[in-house]
Amino acid sequence: MRVLAIETSCDETAAAVVDDGRQVRSSVVSSQVDLHARFGGVVPEVAGRAHLELLTPVVEEALARAGTTGAELDLVAATTGPGLIGSLLVGVSAAKAYSLAWGKPFVGVNHMEGHLHAAFLEDPDLALPAVVLLVSGGHTMLIEMTRDGRYRLLGQTVDDAAGEAFDKVARFLGLGYPGGPAIDRVARGGDPAAIAFPRGLLHDGYDFSFSGLKTSVVNYVRKRPDVELADVAASFQEAVVDVLVRKARRAAADVGARGICIGGGVAANSVLRQRVVEVCGVDGLAAFVPSRAMCTDNAAMVAATAWYRFRRDGATPLDAPADPNARLELE
Ligand code: KG4
Ligand code: ZN
Repeated sequence: MRVLAIETSCDETAAAVVDDGRQVRSSVVSSQVDLHARFGGVVPEVAGRAHLELLTPVVEEALARAGTTGAELDLVAATTGPGLIGSLLVGVSAAKAYSLAWGKPFVGVNHMEGHLHAAFLEDPDLALPAVVLLVSGGHTMLIEMTRDGRYRLLGQTVDDAAGEAFDKVARFLGLGYPGGPAIDRVARGGDPAAIAFPRGLLHDGYDFSFSGLKTSVVNYVRKRPDVELADVAASFQEAVVDVLVRKARRAAADVGARGICIGGGVAANSVLRQRVVEVCGVDGLAAFVPSRAMCTDNAAMVAATAWYRFRRDGATPLDAPADPNARLELE
C-alpha cells in the first residue's frame, strides 16, 4: 500500500511517499527556519503563507524522488492537528484535493501519533511493551506503548514542554532560533556539572515541570552576568535530560517495558540520545533512538501512521476538520 503524506503543522513543509508503512521511498522536508529566524520564533501568518507557496513543489519532489505518480498511490494523508491552524489548513486542504482528484482515500493523522510511529519506521521489530518519551516543542509525554500497540499516558508536563524550555532559554541567552540545536551546540564546550539547576518534580510520579528551571536559569544569569554561556547551556541541558531519562527509566522498570523509545524534536538532542542508550545498556533494555531527521517534523512518520490507522479505522471523511488542539487518543 503506497501512501503520500503531507505535514504542515508548524514550520516545516514536508511530503513523503512510504510503502506499507515501512519502506520510505522519499521524504522531503523544506524548512522555513530562515524565514522565521529574524523574528526569534515561528510567526503563524508567515508560516501559513510559506506552506502555500512551498507545498505543491514539495509534493511534486516527493513523488518524483519516489519514482511514482498520483495514479499509483493507494492513500493520501495529512496531519490534521495539533499545530497552527493556518498551517494545518494548507496541508489538509491540499491532501483532500489530491484525494478527490486522484480518487484515493484520505486519512487524517494526529501529529503526536506520527512522532510515536517514527521509531517503528526505522525499527520495525521494536519490542513491546515500550516506554516512549515524546518530547517536542509543544508536548512532553511519557507513554507506555502496550503489547497490542495501544498508548497509555503515564505522565506529561504540567507547564512548559521540554522543547519550549530549550527555545525560551536559548532566546534569553541570545543563542537565536531554533533554540534546541543552538543549546546542544554551545553546550558541547561547557561543563554540565557547573551549575546545579533544579530538577522539577523529580521524585513525584511521571509528570514533568520545566518552567521553574527556565526561571532559575534567568535568575542565575542576571545575578552573574559574567558566567560562561557554555556552562549555563550545558548545565541547563543536563537538568532537562536528567529528569527525562530518570523518569523514563523508572517507568520502564514499573511497567516491565522491554525498551525505551524517544521521539519528537528534542529527541534530536545529542546528550539525551547518548544517555538513553547508556541507561538501556545498564538496565538490559532495548534503546530505540530514531535518526535525527526522523525525530524532527517530517511526513514519513505521518505516512507510516496513516497506513496503520487506515488498516484499523478506514478512511477519514473529507469533511473532517483540521484541529489545532487535537489530542492523542490514549487509554
Ligand atoms: O517535533 P518538532 O520538530 O516540532 C514540534 O512538533 O514541536 O520539535 C521542535 C522542538 C523545538 O523546541 C526545538 O528547539 C527542539 O525540538 N529541538 C531540540 C533539538 N533539535 C530540535 N531540542 C534539544 N536539542 C536538539 N538538538
Ligand atoms: Zn513535531
